[in-house]
Amino acid sequence: MIDPIQYDDCLSIRGRYLYIEDCNTIDLVKEFGSPLFVISEAQLRNNIRRFQQSFKQGWDADVMIMPAAKANWVSAIQRIIADEGCGCDIYSPGEFDVAMRSGFQAQHISVNGVPKDPNLIRMAIAKGARITIDSLEEMPMIQQSAAELNKTAVVRLRIKPTLSGFNKHSDFSPGGLIATDLAALAYKGGLPIQDVIRLGREILKMNNVRLIGFHQHHGRHHRSLAYWKEQMKTFAQDLGRVRTALDGFQPREIDIGGGFASRRDPFNAETHYAEPFEMLALHLLSKSLKILGSKVRYKVLNYIIDKSMIYHPNQVMAPTIEDYAQICTTTLKKQLPKNGIDLKGLSLQLEPGRSLHGDTGIHLTTLKSIKSTTAPLKWKHLIFDTTEFWFTGGRLEHHLHEYIFANKANVPRQEKADIVGRSCYGDRLIPTIQVPRDAQPGDILALLDVGAYQEPSMSNFNAMPRPGTVLVTDNRASVIRKAETIEDVFRRDVIPQHLR
Ligand SMILES: Cc1ncc(COP(=O)(O)O)c(C=O)c1O
Repeated sequence: MIDPIQYDDCLSIRGRYLYIEDCNTIDLVKEFGSPLFVISEAQLRNNIRRFQQSFKQGWDADVMIMPAAKANWVSAIQRIIADEGCGCDIYSPGEFDVAMRSGFQAQHISVNGVPKDPNLIRMAIAKGARITIDSLEEMPMIQQSAAELNKTAVVRLRIKPTLSGFNKHSDFSPGGLIATDLAALAYKGGLPIQDVIRLGREILKMNNVRLIGFHQHHGRHHRSLAYWKEQMKTFAQDLGRVRTALDGFQPREIDIGGGFASRRDPFNAETHYAEPFEMLALHLLSKSLKILGSKVRYKVLNYIIDKSMIYHPNQVMAPTIEDYAQICTTTLKKQLPKNGIDLKGLSLQLEPGRSLHGDTGIHLTTLKSIKSTTAPLKWKHLIFDTTEFWFTGGRLEHHLHEYIFANKANVPRQEKADIVGRSCYGDRLIPTIQVPRDAQPGDILALLDVGAYQEPSMSNFNAMPRPGTVLVTDNRASVIRKAETIEDVFRRDVIPQHLR
């Protein structure tokens, strides 16, 4: 097993205990309750600075890091990001609202998304934010609002990425069985290049809409540097085609979106890809063993499951932020001039989500109950006071999070068990992994790398109030999102008159 805790991590093991910055996680649970999301301010600031430094080092003009608000839009988090001099990529009126309240400069806010709400377009123009156009239907709304407000709308066109030169499997595809270029085509984001050209020509004739640049976002299909190199090359080629079609138009800014992996990368390609084949083999075996009678069948299955079925979170770290910055900037610097794009004064922007937020957050949850089945198959369930419904973002992407028993952090993990949640579903949060042999109710488990997309995608399934979030700064911890109460869960319900 690799050591999940790396250098410059906000996490450390001190004696038996897991610490985040200088806070003992067990004390956090005592003070703020369980379950709990915890974010490290130092990790967040450090990640931002690494993005800023490494991209600035590789690029000769302006660089603006515009983290994707969707990854974690808690107000205190956005305030820290604004304080670090970043911009912000927003997708909805709610995210625009938090961006404006957090102190981002409007010209460093990219208003993304499809479809866009007409009010959002109006507010963006009124405040001077960039509109990143992602559908033909936006254009009349932009023109109308710009005219009514008597302002110039500043826009970029979002190009739908294609990637014909890279066709390894996509981590986003079911079972990892679909090539990246095909999986990318299925994604709705971005305008097909002929629409970019058509709209570009129209905008260049308008006097209240200013085209300033282009955007692309591909997503985390693959984490290899070869993938990023190909993405940047394709983007440069697309920009070259658009430039030619627009009579030599030179963008002033380009935005390469997000999609880079966080370092422990809970995507867990390794397990994820083997799973369908393992399941098929098990299915065929269990079917054919039927003729031997159930006693023999269970004996054989018990042996196979015990010996072979074990999952483990990703064992191979993703490339570093610095590697990513280097491959993106060197490829763009080589490919853009080849395609006729002038680098002088060309501002480079990016919108990291998971790679910036992922390892800033952990989730602490308490072991409540243990069930050990001995016959006909051996199976152990450790049931925690959390649920997969609070990790919807990760569950949709087949995440397998690294984990540490926070009060038994130095105890060897020698026994197999399923980590399951409390909802009425199977709720196999981390299936069949190694746990300490003496795990018992009251133990605290920390799920790592939950800083991106998990907390914002929680639901109230089983009418469960959602847990709160604390921010840790050195040895201090402050609530940044309150835990819900049962009253909160039912706050939106209305009983119509005839049922009262
Ligand atoms: C336009 C845009 N930019 C950035 C991101 C962030 O992506 P990631 O979290 O993979 O870095 C997203 C995520 O969907 C996005 O849609």
